[in-house]
Amino acid sequence: MKTKIITKTNLPEAVHALQQGEVVAFPTETVYGLGAIATSQEAVLKVFAAKGRPSDNPLIVHVSDVDTVKNSVENFPKEAQLLADAFWPGPLTMILQAKPGIYAPALSAGLSTVSFRMPDHELTLEMIREVGIPLVGPSANRSTKPSPTKVSHVLEDMDGRIFGIVEGGDTRVGVESTVIDLTNDGGPVILRPGVITKEQIESVIGPIATQQTIATGEKVTPKSPGMKYRHYAPTTPVIALGDDISRWKEWIEQYHHENKKVGMMATEKMIAGVQSSIEAVYSLGNTIEDMNHHLFDALRTLDHAQVDVILAQTTTDQKAGLAYMNRLKKAASTVVK
Ligand code: TXA
Ligand code: MG
Repeated sequence: MKTKIITKTNLPEAVHALQQGEVVAFPTETVYGLGAIATSQEAVLKVFAAKGRPSDNPLIVHVSDVDTVKNSVENFPKEAQLLADAFWPGPLTMILQAKPGIYAPALSAGLSTVSFRMPDHELTLEMIREVGIPLVGPSANRSTKPSPTKVSHVLEDMDGRIFGIVEGGDTRVGVESTVIDLTNDGGPVILRPGVITKEQIESVIGPIATQQTIATGEKVTPKSPGMKYRHYAPTTPVIALGDDISRWKEWIEQYHHENKKVGMMATEKMIAGVQSSIEAVYSLGNTIEDMNHHLFDALRTLDHAQVDVILAQTTTDQKAGLAYMNRLKKAASTVVK
């Protein structure tokens, strides 16, 4: 199958293919998603196959209106309404108790819940409206690879595996949505951090827990199946380093001493401070928004730069920094404090 690049003018082609049960990647504000109609078991299974995704990891249903969500759940709690009013369309996914028999069983991966999100991307919202059925949309990378923020990333992983890719430019946010579980007995809980922060959510629905604080007996069990898998990992080893310039210099010197080529992904400030002759440098910009925006492209770019190791700058795990650190820790083989 030759994967087509579909532009805004050819959107009807994507709509038609989706209605026929084909897989079409689409842009969102976070990362590109791998779309298929959420009501067709056959179409949803194609998504799992194209990604190489384990069948016990559920998919998010992408909607263009809130009523679709209300009609497909057992219970639409007041928190869901408040959060939808505050953050949709936008990078927040809500897990709710599903009404049985509406969506393809494969997308829930054996759970009784379904997660929903309304992406903040006009072209994709229009496409969902035209298709007339919500779309599943896992990140459009092959399983374990960094999520795609550009059409070229999707092509790299999916060329020949899917019908097409809707061209929507580079994604704005760069890391996937915040996932909140509204079905938890102990109250809402964040299962995956994103750029919509715990503080922002609390300002709308009051105090909540993050997954790490929910202890079940001795150990913390991952409620979101996706959390247990290897993630975001380039082939080249990634070492996450703090913002101490002299530490960076030591690590670079040591690798050079071993005749190893070094790739560096760091802020403008760090790059200016290190001033060594590094084989490949990727600037993450200046702010935490820049760092989230560039993270996955940096990992992919440096993975192609023929270096032996990638040194990646860490940041604080507060607010939107938590989203960045959550991904970087999964991509990295070592995190140096
Ligand atoms: O920003 C995003 O959320 C992107 C864009 C394309 O919308 N999508 C995305 O999907 O990141 P995916 O499949 O790569 O990540 C979804 C995460 C997984 O960790 C999955 O395990 C979890 O959400 N998840 C989905 N449905 C769930 C459910 N019903 N219960 C618990 N976790 C769920
Ligand atoms: Mg993903």
